[in-house]
Amino acid sequence: MQAATKDDAERKQVTVLFADVSGSMDLAEQEDPEEWRKIMQRFFSMLGESVTRFEGTVDKFTGDGIMAIFGAPVAHEDHARRASYAALRMLDDVAEYAAELRRAKGLNFSTRIGINSGEVVAGAIGQTGDGYTAIGHTVGLAQRMETLAEPGKAYLTEHTAELVRGYLDLNDLGEFEIKGASRPVQVFELTGVGAARSRLDLARERGFSRFVGREEELSRLGDALRRARSGEATAVGVVAEPGIGKSRLYHEFAERCRSEELEVFEAQAQAHAQSSPFLPILQMLRSFYGIGDRDPEQLARERIAGRSLLLDPSFADDLPLVFDFLGVPDPDRPVPRMNPDGRQRALADFLCRLVSNPARRKTLVLIVEDLHWIDDGSQRMLHGLIEGMSGTPTLVLVNYRPEHSPPWSDSPAFEALELQPLDQEDTAKLLRDLAGKDPSLDGLDEPIHERTGGNPFFIEEIVRELAESGYLEGERGAYRLARPIEDAGVPVTVQAVLSARIDRLTPHAKQLLQVASVVGKEVSGQALGLAAGLDEEEMEEALRELIGAGFLYEAEMYPQRVFAFRHPLTREVAYGTQLADQRAATHAAAAQALIQLNPDRLDELSALIADHFRQGNETLEAARWSARAGHWAGHSRPRDALRLWHQVTELADELEVDEETDAMAIASRLAQLQYAWRVGMELDEQARLLSEAEEIAGRRGDLHSLTLLRLTASALPGVQRHTDEWLAAVEETRRLADESGDRHLQVAIRAAGAYAYLCAADFDGYERTLDEMIELAGGDPTVGAGVVIHSPMAWAEMGKGMVRREQGDLDGAGEYFERALRLALDADDPETTSWIRSNQAGLLAMRGDVEAGLALARRNCELTKRIGEVFSRSLAIANLAWAQLAAEEFGDALESIEEADRIYREAMKVGGEMEAWRAQLRAQALTGLGRTDEATEEAKWAVRVSRERGLLWSLPLSLLSLGRALNVAGREEAATEALGEAERVARETGALACLADIEAERDAVGARARR
Ligand SMILES: Nc1ncnc2c1ncn2[C@@H]1O[C@H](COP(=O)(O)OP(=O)(O)O)[C@@H](O)[C@H]1O
Ligand SMILES: [Mg+2]
Repeated sequence: MQAATKDDAERKQVTVLFADVSGSMDLAEQEDPEEWRKIMQRFFSMLGESVTRFEGTVDKFTGDGIMAIFGAPVAHEDHARRASYAALRMLDDVAEYAAELRRAKGLNFSTRIGINSGEVVAGAIGQTGDGYTAIGHTVGLAQRMETLAEPGKAYLTEHTAELVRGYLDLNDLGEFEIKGASRPVQVFELTGVGAARSRLDLARERGFSRFVGREEELSRLGDALRRARSGEATAVGVVAEPGIGKSRLYHEFAERCRSEELEVFEAQAQAHAQSSPFLPILQMLRSFYGIGDRDPEQLARERIAGRSLLLDPSFADDLPLVFDFLGVPDPDRPVPRMNPDGRQRALADFLCRLVSNPARRKTLVLIVEDLHWIDDGSQRMLHGLIEGMSGTPTLVLVNYRPEHSPPWSDSPAFEALELQPLDQEDTAKLLRDLAGKDPSLDGLDEPIHERTGGNPFFIEEIVRELAESGYLEGERGAYRLARPIEDAGVPVTVQAVLSARIDRLTPHAKQLLQVASVVGKEVSGQALGLAAGLDEEEMEEALRELIGAGFLYEAEMYPQRVFAFRHPLTREVAYGTQLADQRAATHAAAAQALIQLNPDRLDELSALIADHFRQGNETLEAARWSARAGHWAGHSRPRDALRLWHQVTELADELEVDEETDAMAIASRLAQLQYAWRVGMELDEQARLLSEAEEIAGRRGDLHSLTLLRLTASALPGVQRHTDEWLAAVEETRRLADESGDRHLQVAIRAAGAYAYLCAADFDGYERTLDEMIELAGGDPTVGAGVVIHSPMAWAEMGKGMVRREQGDLDGAGEYFERALRLALDADDPETTSWIRSNQAGLLAMRGDVEAGLALARRNCELTKRIGEVFSRSLAIANLAWAQLAAEEFGDALESIEEADRIYREAMKVGGEMEAWRAQLRAQALTGLGRTDEATEEAKWAVRVSRERGLLWSLPLSLLSLGRALNVAGREEAATEALGEAERVARETGALACLADIEAERDAVGARARR
């Protein structure tokens, strides 16, 4: 089997930066070219340095500038911040150099920078494969920002602003019409570094959400603190994926510590600062000595010296080193000469002595966040500190992501604490706080919990995204749902975090994750291996990594290993980062893997397999498997079946014409027509399907299909035509089938056509047709099964029962219905079963056992709901109405009958051959409720329709209902007239049961007249 082929290009969220020298052409003329070249080189190297310093990639030189990408090839979750920092640095460096050039040569020289963030396709271009670049609208917009920018400034778009707000200072310049952009773009000038350092700072700025849950974790931290205070130094490492709440937990705990007058010092490693070493240690020492960024150097030195010497006068020797390290070197006391290594060791040693100094009595709480980003130097120092702190009142709190493991993790003083996502209850509390309590938000808890996997950062961002894109209206903490959230996308902020994590996986793990995202929410290990084309060892290793980093978990272990995504958002992002071609290849490989691994479950999986093939652009296979799935869905899930057959038609139409695709084109249309009258389809659409199929069958000279199509067309119920016409068509097709000598066709056309006789109240013709079917089938229930009616023999027995009922032989009817029910149940045919139950319920009511009739009718309604078929469902509800009328529950009956009529009309756009029958039931209900005028109107309508279309079965019933309505309205004369006609028709058609009812109504009229 062919494993998914790998193109290295990917869809990525990145930030693109353009920088150039403004007016360079004029300048070039003023200078000697050789000199000019040197200046430009210097200029380029400055830009390039700023880019590499923040781990961006210089994509290309544009002649007088550069284009750089941040976030590709390796994703960084803070790509927009990195680009902004790089821009600030460029502006500074260039300004400095420009001033120099102005002084020395009188040259005028400045840079402009444009930045934008968004999706690009990034990858190698060209045959050598070394030209890595990014392509997409995002790039063009960045370039436009550059052209827009004034000299010496950096402009960025709203897309970047959204990602950096708080971390950087921006000046809103308003909206600009940009060529090539469909709507105006909000533009910002980048003015400096902002106050926020971390996501938590940002959250604090926006106003923290209410803190939920975490009681147990806080109490474990409390225990650790107690130990530390008693002199048993302790280190705790909180481990969790980004956004789970590591920082927030420490923040809450630090607040508690501070309220107990404890000293807490905080530091954090930064994603973009790996290249500037010792930042966390510097931060920690600065806060320990209480020095701020803008303090004068002298003051800073005094604080450092004061606090150190107070602890231990012997620290005096270390001061020059510490001053220097903290960026406030003392001109009078230079640092002794040392190599960088020696210097580091000396500092580490100082740090240890500082922490372990016996003179220190107060408990120290040190928090170092985000160790997964820490530089090696800081890591070593921290390690030394932890080893040296034993026996002192020290609590070191660190946190990091699961993919990291600190080097001291087996030290006895260390304790790891895995932070779990919020459970559904806490998620609901957080949502209440963020979104409010409006009733329209009920029911959001579960989908949001499911989508975010209980990650509070994702929850916050999703709520923000929903509000920004108009799904939620109102204000924070008081939103209303404006439209359903199903199609809401992944917030860019979340996408940045997730895609960066995915990119940092090893190539196999990343590949496997992408494949898994294509295969499904849950994937069997074997299918995954096959679709990814990895061998067992590679698979195991990659899986271990993915599970360890919290992307996947093992949902089942036996009999098969099944892996599932920890949250759907990861899957969406992993899916979205792949190129369409690559994704398609994986879909096709997944289909093949399913086939190979599940030889016994192919029917059940056929729809899924078809779907993978379809998304894998393997149209023929997709059509074949959709057809199999359509068969399998069959009569038990008609809606799915209709959808699948429709899919086969579409797929077959895409394919080149040959014998197989023509056969699929015909069969799929035929099948759709079979579901048309059951599930609903507009008549035009039905006619179109029919003529298309006839055209293809004609071209092929396929007589069998032509006969089948004719049969289907002639027998279709629901068409608004006269029963004479209907019966003539049935007769003609019956002849055609008999000529073919195909028993299946002969039985099928009789099964379908019999219904026309019933509607025309030709009870003899009806029974004769049913008897012929029984004879032709010769006891084999499979003959003709499924062509139109799923179990023709059950249908025949039921029909014979109905004839008995119409003739007033209720016992005989009951026996036939029983037999029919057994056959339908044996054939596993819920549809015919529901029709029989409808009849049985009506029969019970007729016999006076109203309660039992009602109960059966109700249960039947429930069962038909599950089949999902409109024809049967409407019929079942109408029959319930019939039973309700018998029970004199007129209000309920009216409701039922209106529902039955509504669902039929909504699905079919017409009322069908039962509309008059339903109307006369409605008239009866209205009469029962005393609304006789409406009842009269309704009954008259039923009479008219029955007459016009030759629906002689519903005609006497409609006339009877009319008579009853008129009688109750006090119009005895008109009532008598209607009943007279009812009697005439009933006698003509032999509807004896109806005659009895008419007689009873006549008596009622007489009684009324006598009063
Ligand atoms: N228990 C909690 N209750 C309410 N909000 C929380 C909770 N934990 C985290 N948050 C919020 O979720 C966001 C992400 O939390 P943070 O602590 O920054 O995650 P991490 O440090 O694990 O990446 C923050 O805005 C934070 O305020
Ligand atoms: Mg954090």
